[in-house]
Amino acid sequence: MKYLMIAPIEGFSKLSKEAKISWIAKHYTHNSEQTLKLLQQYWNKDEQLQKLHDEFIENTITNFYLPFGIAPNFLINDRLYAIPMAIEESSVVAAASKAAKFWLTRGGFKTTIIGTEKVGQVHFMYTGDADKLSQFFLALKPKLLANVASITKNMEKRGGGISAIELRNKTAELDHYYQLHCTFETMNAMGANFINSCLEVFAKTLKSEAQNHPAFSDQEKDIEIVMSILSNNVPNCVVRAEVSCAVSDLKPQDAVSSLEFAQKMVRAVNIAKVEPFRAVTHNKGIMNGIDAVVLATGNDFRAIEAGAHAYASKDGKYTSLTHASIEDDQFKFWIEIPLAIGTVGGLTNLHPLVKVALEILQNPTAKELMEIVAVAGLAQNFAAVKSLVTTGIQQGHMKMHLLNILNQLGATEAEKLTLVHHFKKNTASHSAVVTAFEALRNNL
Ligand code: MEV
Repeated sequence: MKYLMIAPIEGFSKLSKEAKISWIAKHYTHNSEQTLKLLQQYWNKDEQLQKLHDEFIENTITNFYLPFGIAPNFLINDRLYAIPMAIEESSVVAAASKAAKFWLTRGGFKTTIIGTEKVGQVHFMYTGDADKLSQFFLALKPKLLANVASITKNMEKRGGGISAIELRNKTAELDHYYQLHCTFETMNAMGANFINSCLEVFAKTLKSEAQNHPAFSDQEKDIEIVMSILSNNVPNCVVRAEVSCAVSDLKPQDAVSSLEFAQKMVRAVNIAKVEPFRAVTHNKGIMNGIDAVVLATGNDFRAIEAGAHAYASKDGKYTSLTHASIEDDQFKFWIEIPLAIGTVGGLTNLHPLVKVALEILQNPTAKELMEIVAVAGLAQNFAAVKSLVTTGIQQGHMKMHLLNILNQLGATEAEKLTLVHHFKKNTASHSAVVTAFEALRNNL
């Protein structure tokens, strides 16, 4: 009820950070003193560094930490990488590291870039003769390119630019709806700004040229631009990563034979291929690895998520992004995933930790980063499915989560040591941890 009484605020963005905090703490929290203290505790002492972070977004009041971890021992195309990951989920870095180590002695990961094409569209409405529009578009195309020359000049110098502009008639799906469907090569940049800037110039040119096109009727001249925006659906910006080894070399430590393990893995992946309820979780596990590296390297994980799930349903049914097979006694496990990411521009040049992450990765090109990120996804999936078909997920998960529970309970360092040791031999569940903690505290 308290919250319903709060009046809307005018000009919040213009308040100082301190005033924003006071307002929010006073109106929306129960102990404003404590909130104030906590929010300030997360400020960086270095004022310049804090200012940099403040200015990433509007209305910043503090920083929100995520752990920045390292998964070492990734052999990718015969080069050894330590992969930085920004993620809050306790078992992800451990699982990635385990999978990296597993494949380190089995040939490592191999990758192939399948494509790097980015997409953007100008969506518009045209009422009139479709053939006339096609004719008009043929004459328009060189003007579209000429008008973006100042934007594309630098990108072309780097080997990128606009690869195609197509007129698409979508009127069968929506009355009067057409698009300029454009494809781009953006080299080491993710390219969102470049693409959107080009599209907006295309839209303006389209509109003004239509108005002056003598063959158009008044109605045909009146093209309505609806929007100009890049697409996060990038089915031709795809990387493949794979691992393979002789079935007999799989040798898991668990109580199954190599062949049985290989078959269990293939079966689990095949279930994710045919069953969307499983596929979504299976792919979520992949994205645990992907997002963590995407975030650590300053890329947009929402774009990557959107593109990945669209790709997972590109054939009309949501399915697994990874594949597994046993052929001629070879176990093969691979992923194909669209990754529109960059290593220049955006946060990559701005966020000090992103710069360190890229340095740790040996300052990769965008293509190399695509390879590394895909490998992180594949490794994560391998580790998750391996646990699922052998020990079950909770064993490893709870082991990692144990410290979170102990921290919540307020365990001392000595108590943590004792209980971590205890749960090496005992199954950890939330209630088992609470019981063991209470017994230890109370000398039971
Ligand atoms: C948990 O974050 C991810 C898993 O559920 C993935 C999977 O089930 O494959 C373990």
